[in-house]
Order: sequence, then structure tokens, then C-alpha cells
Amino acid sequence: MSELNLILVGPPGAGKGTQAERIQQDFGLPYFATGNILRKAVTDGTELGKQAKAYMDDGKLVPDELIVGVLLEALDGAEATDGFLLDGFPRKISQADALAEALEKVGRKLTAVLLIDVPDEEVIRRLSGRRTCAKNGHTYHVDFDPPKHEGVCDQDGSKLIQRDDDKPEVISKRLVTYHDETEPLVEYYEARDLLRRFDGTRTPTEVHDHIRATIATLRLEDAI
Ligand code: AP5
Repeated sequence: MSELNLILVGPPGAGKGTQAERIQQDFGLPYFATGNILRKAVTDGTELGKQAKAYMDDGKLVPDELIVGVLLEALDGAEATDGFLLDGFPRKISQADALAEALEKVGRKLTAVLLIDVPDEEVIRRLSGRRTCAKNGHTYHVDFDPPKHEGVCDQDGSKLIQRDDDKPEVISKRLVTYHDETEPLVEYYEARDLLRRFDGTRTPTEVHDHIRATIATLRLEDAI
């Protein structure tokens, strides 16, 4: 197949990061998650991080001027020449247009947009129990996917923390932002015949199996 250029879309807590780890392993794709890029900038105390933090802590999207250039520059790098997996970008129509324009300029196109869908009640349940590895971002859930040793990442032994935006009052705001600003992308990509839907209420393994099978079919169709 030509290059595999994938986007993961879905509400907060849909399992985008969880599935991204698996898809990366399946297909060896470079992974760009704008949430992770922004959280690292906050931790490192960079200018981007300083400007982004207030928006993130309030459950809002950071302004396009802060994130679009950063993401497009990363995609333009050598690492992404044979394909990519985006998580958390685009998150609104203006970002989708910016991405489409940038890809078109270099003669590339998207393969598929993978929508992982879960209802709001499930988002709240998942995010309030989520714990995140402070070093590499691996995620756990205190009830559904606990680490072997409480508070410690199974994969690298780092401390597990609760993200600032996983507090109940911020989760509700993130959901409002999702429905208002990000959900219109579903129609946008459906109209371009790129959208593929996945039931995010299934187990992580079931969701992963479905995604993997869909990508395999896309590759077969491309080969015919
Ligand atoms: P970002 O980091 O992208 O947050 P998000 O989209 O809200 O997504 P999450 O990381 O919270 O959830 P996820 O879907 O990855 O779920 P996970 O796999 O962890 O963005 C954060 C902020 O940055 C934004 O609010 C915004 O301010 C800013 N930002 C980022 N990108 C931006 C952009 N492009 N423009 C502007 N601003 C931007 O799973 C969640 C939990 O559920 C875990 O505990 C996991 O163990 C569990 N779980 C996962 N799958 C399942 C399953 N199938 N069944 C049961 N439990 C499961």
C-alpha cells in the first residue's frame, strides 16, 4: 500500500491513546498526539506550555496559532515521510482544513479517520479513574485496568499521576468542547468518505481487533 496516514478522533477518554499504542506496534507508524506534545511543553515550562496550560486546565482547546504550526512542522519531518498516526489533531474544522491544505501541497492524502465513539457517562467513569505514567504517558484505570503495583507504571516503573484535566469539573467542560468543536469533524470526514466508526464501549482488545481488521481491508482495497 501507499503510505498509511491515519487520524484518531473521539471524545475525551474514548481510548484514543490506548488504541494508538497498539496501532503503532501493528504498523510501526510514527505517532503524534497534540495532547502529549502540549503536556510535555507544560512540564518543560516552554513558552508554548505556559500559554497552553490555562486553556487545557479549563477544558478548552488551545488557539490554533499555538498548535497548528507545531503539528504541521512535526508532520513535515523525516520521521513521518512513510505514514503517520495523529491523535487529538485535527480537533476542529479549521485544523482539518489546515491539515488538508498542507498534505495537498506535498501530494499526500489521508487514508482514514478512525472515530472511537463512547457516550458521555462512560467518558466520566473512565477519566475520573484514569492514572497516567508521569514519564511516558501510559494509561491505567484504577478499577478496569489497574497497574500491578498501585501508583507505579508497569512498563517503566515511573510514578502514576492524575492529569489536572481529569478532575470532574474539567471533564464536563472537555465534553462540551468536544460536542461543540470536534464532533462536526465526523460529518466533515464522512462527506469525504474517510470516516470509519468503532464502538469504544467494547473492551480495548475488541476495539483494537476491529481497527486492525479495518486497516487490513483498506490496504487490500488499495492493492486491488
Ligand atoms: P488530549 O490529551 O488529546 O485529551 P483528549 O482528547 O481529551 O483525550 P484523552 O487523552 O483524555 O483520552 P483518550 O481518548 O486518549 O483515552 P485513553 O486511551 O487515555 O488533549 C488534552 C487537552 O490538550 C485538550 O483538552 C486541549 O486543551 C489540548 N489540545 C490537544 N490537542 C489540541 C488541538 N489539536 N487543538 C487545540 N487544543 C488541543 O483512555 C481513557 C481511560 O479509559 C484510561 O484509563 C484507559 O485505561 C481506559 N480505557 C481505554 N479504552 C477502554 C475500553 N475500551 N474499555 C474500558 N476502559 C478503557
